[in-house]
Amino acid sequence: MARTGRGRIGSALLGAVLLIALGTATTGRAQTLSGLDLYRTRCDGCHELPEPDEPKRSRIEWDQILTRMIRTRGAVVSPPEKTALLNYLDSFNRPAREIRWVETPARSRKAAFPSAQTGKLPEEWVDLTLGADETIPWAIQGDARSTYVQPLKGAAENQFPSLLDNTGVVQSGTSRARFQLLAGKSPGAGLLFGYRSPQSYFGVRVAPQNAVLYEVQGGQRALRARAGVGVTLKEWHTVAVEIKGKAVQISLDGKPLPDLTRTLEGYRGGRCGIHTQGDTLARFDQWELMIP
Ligand code: HEC
Repeated sequence: MARTGRGRIGSALLGAVLLIALGTATTGRAQTLSGLDLYRTRCDGCHELPEPDEPKRSRIEWDQILTRMIRTRGAVVSPPEKTALLNYLDSFNRPAREIRWVETPARSRKAAFPSAQTGKLPEEWVDLTLGADETIPWAIQGDARSTYVQPLKGAAENQFPSLLDNTGVVQSGTSRARFQLLAGKSPGAGLLFGYRSPQSYFGVRVAPQNAVLYEVQGGQRALRARAGVGVTLKEWHTVAVEIKGKAVQISLDGKPLPDLTRTLEGYRGGRCGIHTQGDTLARFDQWELMIP
C-alpha cells in the first residue's frame, strides 16, 4: 500500500514536472509567432534573410540547414519553433495544380481559415500574383492568438499577390475582408472584384494615408478614385465593396467612403478576392461574400 502511495505521488510529481516542461516548450515562446514571423525575426541576424523559395529546397534540405543554423551557427530556435519554421518553408513546395474556374453564380459565404489547415491554402481559393510570372503562394498562418491567410513572402514593386475566391462569379453583391497591414515599403492591401483575367479586373487598396479605387482593362491600370483616409499599421480594419449593377460603394470600418463611390461603366461582373501590394506584409482573417 505504502509503496503504491509513494508511487502515485512520485508519478504525480513527475507528471507535474513534465507538464511544466511541456508547457514552457509549447506555450512559451513557441507559438507566439507564426512560421513566417519566426522566419522574418530569427533568420536575418547573421546574414540577410535568405529567399525562402530561391533556390527551392525540400523539407529534408531545410531541416538539415535549420539543424546546422541551430547546432553549429548559434541560431536561437526552440524545437517547436523549428517545426513551425520547417512547415513555413515547406509550404513553398506545392504540387503544380491546374486551375479549374467555377463558372456558376457565386452564393453568399463566409470563409474560414482554420488552424488545422495552417500552411495550406483552402481548396476554394486560387492564388496568383498579378503583374508577375511567378505566383507567390498564400497559405494559412497562425500564432498563439489567431489564424489568418497571407502571402508567404513579399513581391516586387508593381506586383500584386492576390487570392481569388473560386466559388463562382459575382454580378451584384457585397464582398468584405478584415485585414491588418504589418510592414512594407509602401504597404497596402484590399479587395479585388470583377476579376475576369489578369488583364481585366477592379480593385480597392487601402494604405496608411489613402484608399484608392482602380481598374485594369487590357492590362492597363487606371486610377478611378482616391480618398484621403487610411488605416493604422498592425490593427485590424474592415474594407467592403458593395456592387449594384455598375454602381460601386466602398466602406472602411463600416463607414461608406463617398469619395470612392462610382459608377464603373466597364464592370461586367467577375470574381472577388483580396490582394496586397508589392512587398507588403499583411494578413486577412475574415472574408465574406453576400449575394442579395
Ligand atoms: C547565429 C548566426 C545565424 C543565424 C541566427 C542564422 N544563420 Fe544561417 N548562416 C549562418 C552562417 C555563419 C552561414 C554560413 C555557413 C553555413 O552555411 O553554415 C549561414 C548560412 C545559411 C544558409 C546558406 C546555406 C547553404 O547551404 O546554402 C541558409 C539558407 C541559412 N543560413 C538559413 C538560415 C535560416 C533559415 C535561419 C533562421 C533559422 C538562419 N539561417 C539563421 C549563421 C546564422
